Amino acid sequence: MGLIWILLSITVFSFVSPNDGFDVLDPNGNVTIKWDKTSDDGDTQTVTVSIYNYQLFRHIEKPGWRLSWKWPNDEVIWKMFGAEATEQGNCSAFKGSDKPHCCEKKPVIIDLLPGALHTVQFQNCCKGGVLTSLTQVPPKHISSFQMIVGGPSSYNSSLPGIPDKFTLGLPGYTCGPPREVEPTTFYEDDGRRKTQAIATWNVSCSYSQFLASPTPKCCVSLSAFYNSTIVPCPTCSCGCTGQPGINCVKPGESPPVLELPTDEVPQPVVKCTRHMCPVTIHWHVKESYKEYWRVKMTIINQNFAQNYSHWNMVVLHPNLRSVTQVFSFDYIPLNQYGSINDSGVFYGVSLYNDMLLQCGPQGNVQSEMLLHKDPDMFTFRQGWTFPRKVSFNGDECVMPQPDDYPSLPNGAQPSSPATLLIIMLLSLLFSLLAL
Ligand SMILES: *[C@@H]1O[C@H](CO)[C@@H](O)[C@H](O)[C@H]1NC(C)=O
Ligand SMILES: *[C@@H]1O[C@H](CO)[C@@H](O)[C@H](O)[C@H]1NC(C)=O
Ligand SMILES: *[C@@H]1O[C@H](CO)[C@@H](O)[C@H](O)[C@H]1NC(C)=O
Ligand SMILES: *[C@@H]1O[C@H](CO)[C@@H](O)[C@H](O)[C@H]1NC(C)=O
Ligand SMILES: *[C@@H]1O[C@H](CO)[C@@H](O)[C@H](O)[C@H]1NC(C)=O
Ligand SMILES: *[C@@H]1O[C@H](CO)[C@@H](O)[C@H](O)[C@H]1NC(C)=O
Ligand SMILES: *[C@@H]1O[C@H](CO)[C@@H](O)[C@H](O)[C@H]1NC(C)=O
Repeated sequence: MGLIWILLSITVFSFVSPNDGFDVLDPNGNVTIKWDKTSDDGDTQTVTVSIYNYQLFRHIEKPGWRLSWKWPNDEVIWKMFGAEATEQGNCSAFKGSDKPHCCEKKPVIIDLLPGALHTVQFQNCCKGGVLTSLTQVPPKHISSFQMIVGGPSSYNSSLPGIPDKFTLGLPGYTCGPPREVEPTTFYEDDGRRKTQAIATWNVSCSYSQFLASPTPKCCVSLSAFYNSTIVPCPTCSCGCTGQPGINCVKPGESPPVLELPTDEVPQPVVKCTRHMCPVTIHWHVKESYKEYWRVKMTIINQNFAQNYSHWNMVVLHPNLRSVTQVFSFDYIPLNQYGSINDSGVFYGVSLYNDMLLQCGPQGNVQSEMLLHKDPDMFTFRQGWTFPRKVSFNGDECVMPQPDDYPSLPNGAQPSSPATLLIIMLLSLLFSLLAL
């Protein structure tokens, strides 16, 4: 019986884990859609829809969200402020000149573009569907729009229902069912007056890197001052040469003229490499001082089809609890588990290096960082100075195998097996004494 349980849980776990969207670096990360019914006059309802990006470091990039849902009946959207439906659909049931904004059973809503002078604005609107993460500044992680929703005909008082099957139109996100929650409170007159929604529903959407793309999108290479070997990105990290569906640009060739689609995430067009990754990150242990050590971090764009605006990199390393200085990137620690702050987000300095340009001579950003050698943990041995995990724009990067890490010259090799054995025996003895 026990064995069956173990086998069963292993099976279930291995099926669930790649898809469940759980990211140890952002365990609570989600995108929440809030549906506030704010007024109801019997025929029509006013609904405010807000999209909150509650992810610590994954933002929603161009071409932005394309929110969709399925109406339970033949509801229509009469008017919309701060967003628009991509198609009006078949509104022939409505006679007269006043036609609804959208009669689709599954409307697709897009944000209005920034800059344009819109007569139908709404607070937090008009960002072209782009939302920043929670950590990056300035935080612009909320989008909202308002709509007037009616029943199947303006004279039929059967009330609009709550839709379901929400989608964000972004690769990798799946949304749950709407759940009725406490009605939202709104503040008016600088917070002196409170009003509340008639009813509120929340929809929670989560991201899975595996669903977004079956292959990784970046990889890490390593080097250190004490060893001349540069440990490259593992071969075929993101794809292999000659694999069907992989198009790459050989050295000396010029990249194809790219038709940049405006409503889709551009497919990467990468430089031909052994790893085929659109982005590589190089971590170089540069120098050792008495009390500090220095790392150089370089992010290289190998993708001809994309400029990464507001890029970010998340690193997990135990010594990040003692970051002393980060030179030309901004840095925010991620204290996900209380006092253990071993991870943080690096991102570009606004208007200086927050844009990682497409593959080419300018397609890289770099910075150095000074860390304190905490005596209780610091060592150059066994690859300790290399990161445990790295992600770029929220997608985990492929790391070299620990066995391949640049090692210290032989003379400086740490403990021999015999000393390790003695240390183990001693610690066993101490723990026995402690009992
Ligand atoms: C979504 O994120 C917010 C903010 O981190 C959190 O409070 C909320 O519990 C999360 N929702 C779910 C369903 O995980
Ligand atoms: C539009 O909807 C009406 C009924 O409301 C239907 O009779 C008509 O065939 C539809 N037209 C198209 C092109 O689907
Ligand atoms: C109103 O719509 C409902 C279904 O949505 C329908 O059952 C009902 O007959 C309609 N009433 C009128 C007066 O059209
Ligand atoms: C519903 O979403 C809103 C906005 O994200 C949030 O403030 C509220 O706490 C959520 N309610 C529940 C019960 O999760
Ligand atoms: C990237 O930005 C540069 C400079 O702004 C521009 O010339 C180039 O066309 C952009 N490339 C892409 C793929 O958007
Ligand atoms: C570590 O976390 C504490 C709070 O938990 C914070 O005050 C401190 O700045 C963090 N240190 C670094 C280097 O991230
Ligand atoms: C440098 O590191 C590589 C990879 O771990 C190792 O094979 C090599 O022996 C090291 N070189 C020296 C001089 O220690």
